[in-house]
Amino acid sequence: MPRKIIIDTDPGQDDAVAILLALASPEDLDVIGITTVAGNVPLHLTSRNARVVCEVAGKLDVPVFAGCDAPLQRKLVTAEHVHGKTGLDGIELPDPKMPLREQHGVDFIIETLRREPSGTVTLCPIGPLTNIASAFLKAPDIRSRVREIVLMGGAYFEVGNITPAAEFNIYVDPEAADIVFKSGAQITVMSLDITHKALVTHARVSAFEALGTRVGRAVAGWTHFFERFDVTKYGSKGAPLHDPTVIAYLIQPELFSGRHINVEIERQGEFTCGMTVADWWRVSDRAPNAMWMGSIADDGFFDLLTERLARL
Ligand code: BDR
Ligand code: CA
Repeated sequence: MPRKIIIDTDPGQDDAVAILLALASPEDLDVIGITTVAGNVPLHLTSRNARVVCEVAGKLDVPVFAGCDAPLQRKLVTAEHVHGKTGLDGIELPDPKMPLREQHGVDFIIETLRREPSGTVTLCPIGPLTNIASAFLKAPDIRSRVREIVLMGGAYFEVGNITPAAEFNIYVDPEAADIVFKSGAQITVMSLDITHKALVTHARVSAFEALGTRVGRAVAGWTHFFERFDVTKYGSKGAPLHDPTVIAYLIQPELFSGRHINVEIERQGEFTCGMTVADWWRVSDRAPNAMWMGSIADDGFFDLLTERLARL
C-alpha cells in the first residue's frame, strides 16, 4: 500500500522537483494533499507555483491548499536572491488553471489527521514549519496521530545558508520549528549536512534535459537557474538539491544513514537565531527527539530521481 503523505511546501525550484518525484511514484506514495506556506516567496506565489508544478506533471486532481502567510511571531524573510522573483524562475510556465481549494491548509492538515486511521499519515514539510506548528497548536490531539514527519531543514556540520549559523527553513520560523521538534512526533531530518552532498552538476542537469519531456526540460531549467547562484556561493561543482531528499527517503530509505539524537532550536541568540543545535556527538543528557541524517548515496539519489521523473 502506498504511504499517505501531505507535502507542506514553499516552491521554490527544489520544492518543485520534490513534488514531481512524489507525483511520479504512486506505487510508493499517495499524495493526499499539498499545503503551501510563505517562505522562499510570499504565499500567493508559493500557492501559484505548487499548482504550476502539478500541471507540469499532468496531475490536476491533486488538492492544493493555501496555508499561513507569515511566521508565527516574526516578519517573513524570503529568498528571491536564490529562487528569483517568482520563486520558480528558470523556465517560463503559464499560470495554473486548477483552482486552490477553499479550506485553509492548516485545517486540511488537522481534518486529515483526525479522519485517517492514527499512524497512517506522514507529513513532509519542505519549507518553514509554520503550518505544521499552527496545526499542532490548534489541535494538539493530532500530534500523536502523525506516522512520521520527514522534513528538510537545519544544519550542523554545514552550519548556515541564510546566516552563518542558520538554515533558511528553520531561520524563517524558529518558534514553529521549536514546537515541531518538541511535539513528540517521530521526526526525520534532511539537513544541509546531506543536501550539500546532493549536488546538481552539469552532467546531472544534462540527464534531466535528455529525458526530452516537458518535465525533463522544466527540471533542467529550474536546477540550472539556481545552480548559477549556489555554485558561486559555495564554490562547489553544482547546487545542492535540498527538498527532493525528503521524498527520496520515503521511497528508498537505504540511500541515507544517520543518528537518533537531540535537536534543539535556538530562538534567542544574537548571532545564532534559527540554529539547529544537533547533539551529534551525544555530549548532552537531553533526550533524543529526531533522526538526523548524516550521509546520502548521492549517485543512487540522482539515479532514482531521473528514473522516476522519466515516467511523467
Ligand atoms: C531550503 O530553503 C529553501 O530555499 C529551499 O527550498 C529548501 O527548502 C534550503 O535551505
Ligand atoms: Ca523549500
